[in-house]
This record gives sequence, C-alpha cells and structure tokens, in this order.
Amino acid sequence: MIDLYSDTQTRPSDAMRRAMANAEVGDEQRGEDPTVNALCDKVADLLGKEAAVFLPSGTMCNEIALMVHCRPGDEILCHGTSHILNYEGGGPSALAGAVMTALPGDRGMFTADTVRAATRPASRYAPKTRLLEIENTANMAGGVAWPLEAVQSVSAAAREADLIVHMDGARLLNAVVATGVSAAEYGATADTVWIDFSKGLGAPVGAAMAGSADFIEAVWQWKQRIGGAMRQAGIIAAGALYGLENNVERLAEDNAAAKSFAEVLAGSPNFSIDPATVDTNIVIFDLADKTADAAKFSARTLAEADVRIGAVGPHTLRAVTHMDVDPNAVRTAAERIVRL
Ligand SMILES: Cc1ncc(COP(=O)(O)O)c(C=O)c1O
Repeated sequence: MIDLYSDTQTRPSDAMRRAMANAEVGDEQRGEDPTVNALCDKVADLLGKEAAVFLPSGTMCNEIALMVHCRPGDEILCHGTSHILNYEGGGPSALAGAVMTALPGDRGMFTADTVRAATRPASRYAPKTRLLEIENTANMAGGVAWPLEAVQSVSAAAREADLIVHMDGARLLNAVVATGVSAAEYGATADTVWIDFSKGLGAPVGAAMAGSADFIEAVWQWKQRIGGAMRQAGIIAAGALYGLENNVERLAEDNAAAKSFAEVLAGSPNFSIDPATVDTNIVIFDLADKTADAAKFSARTLAEADVRIGAVGPHTLRAVTHMDVDPNAVRTAAERIVRL
C-alpha cells in the first residue's frame, strides 16, 4: 500500500531509533534533560528567538500560545482554512475563551488590507482583536508556502494595529526548503512560532515553540497546568533532534514528488489540479465530475489501487508526500489513481 494519507504517517528510521535509544536524559520538567535542552536551544536559534519549549504536539503549541496571548472575549484573526479554526476541537474558544474570525483569501493567505479591515476599533461592544494567526505552510490550501514579502506585509499590518502575531509552522521547514527563505526570516514576522517534528521530519512525536524568554516562561506554566510537562523526554527529543539534523534538506524531495503527483493527475480530464500551485508536499485536488463522491473515491483508491489518500471535501481529496514513500512510488500512486 502506498500511504499518502499524511506526512504524520512517517515512522522513525533505524538510525533515528538508535539516536533515541542512546539519548542522554534527565527530568525535563525540572529543565534537567540535556537532550531536550539541546533541542530547545537549536529550535530557538533556528527560528531566531530567545527561547523555546518542547511540547507533545503542534496542537498543544497552538492552544498554549493562544491561552498565553488571549483573554476570554478576545478575537483571533485566522484564515478560514486554518488548523486552529477547523481541526483543534474549538480549542481556542474552549481553552482561551477567544472568538475566532475567519479571514478570506486565496490559497490560505490573506492580505494586509484584509487584516486592517478585520481589526476592530476599540469598543465596549466588540471583542478585542488581539492576535493574528498565520499558517505556513497553509495545509488545507494545498501546502502553500507564503512568500516572505506577503507574510511580512500582513505581519506589519497586524503590528501597526498592536496585534500579536502567532505562526503555526507545523510544516514551516517545507516552506523554507521550497522558497529559500530562512526559518529565522519567517520567524521574525511572528512573535511566537512553532515547528512540528512528527510530520516531514520523521520523528514519532513532538513539537517545539519559540518566542521571547518571558513568553516561554508563561508557556511553561500552562504546560505544567495541563499536564504537558514530561520526565525523561530526551528519548523523544532525540528523534526530533535527529530529524532536524538529518531530514530537513530532503524535504525538497517530498516537495518535488508532490508536484510530479499533481502533474500526472493534471494529465487526466477526471481531476482538477494545477501543478503550478503545488509549492510543497501537499496536493489538494478535485474530482472533475461534481456528482462523484470524494469519500467513496478514496475508499476505492485504497481497495482497488492500494493507495491511501484522504477525502477533505465532498469532491476534494488530499495526498501528502513524505520520507516513507519514495518519489517513484508517489508517481506510481498517481498513475494508479488516474487508471482507476
Ligand atoms: C497546519 C497544522 N497545524 C497544526 C497541526 C497539529 O499538529 P499535531 O498533529 O502535532 O498536533 C497540524 C497537524 O496536521 C497541521 O497540519
């Protein structure tokens, strides 16, 4: 079976497992785990921030960041396709007590004008617009990598209006590899930013969030409160470190394989996809026949073509490339889907 369901399907390689088995460990909750500390230093440096914290998941990064930044009744501006709005169980409302407003915009992005128009003037009647969230890459827009100027301009508009800028960088390193913009250049556009290790970097678990030393101290209190503090977490941090040290440049292969997948599909009249819009490792495509059902089609690709892809809308499917499926197999998967 060729599994293109998600880059979260990656399993730790033998070399990563060895690094994990041999990791030096200590009590992470007390700041005594040398591997976790090395990982946090590396991430802070990579993202150009004062400090970083290791957390069990990207969702926990987003939710804790929003709890630190927002008070109940505050408003978060985010794109309508964003993960925090659609896939975190309403966490920003349930946990931070914030209202989320969906911004419109092509390909998971919005403009500075859109941010300015959405920011509410101070009023006793309105929620206080507190924070702008930027997702880079924009997952459900098809792994879109924000051009640096675009993200700089929305960030400047947000900062002019005194908004905090938070970046969901679950796949930021796919964007870095695709655009040549450094993680620190992207990081400079946000006050707080995190990256995931359990996706394209191939680690089994974990994410790390960076920001000012004061922010990270506040994050630690929430981490403690909600049970995210860990003990000998160096075992898992070693997988993350291994991924950062060995698996970043190879993300370019995943990005290229996704484009070739899209090119094969684009050669068939049965699919609607423009390969030029595939920036990174996610391909979102439509069935041209609007009476066809994406969930049924994805069940058939698994049963009859041995290819696993996800249905993400009534006529829309998603394929995600990653290190456990080589580029030839990605192409084969596309060819089998076209035949089906
Ligand atoms: C854009 C984006 N943000 C956040 C997350 C959540 O990350 P995690 O699965 O590590 O909780 C994901 C996961 O797919 C994602 O795609």
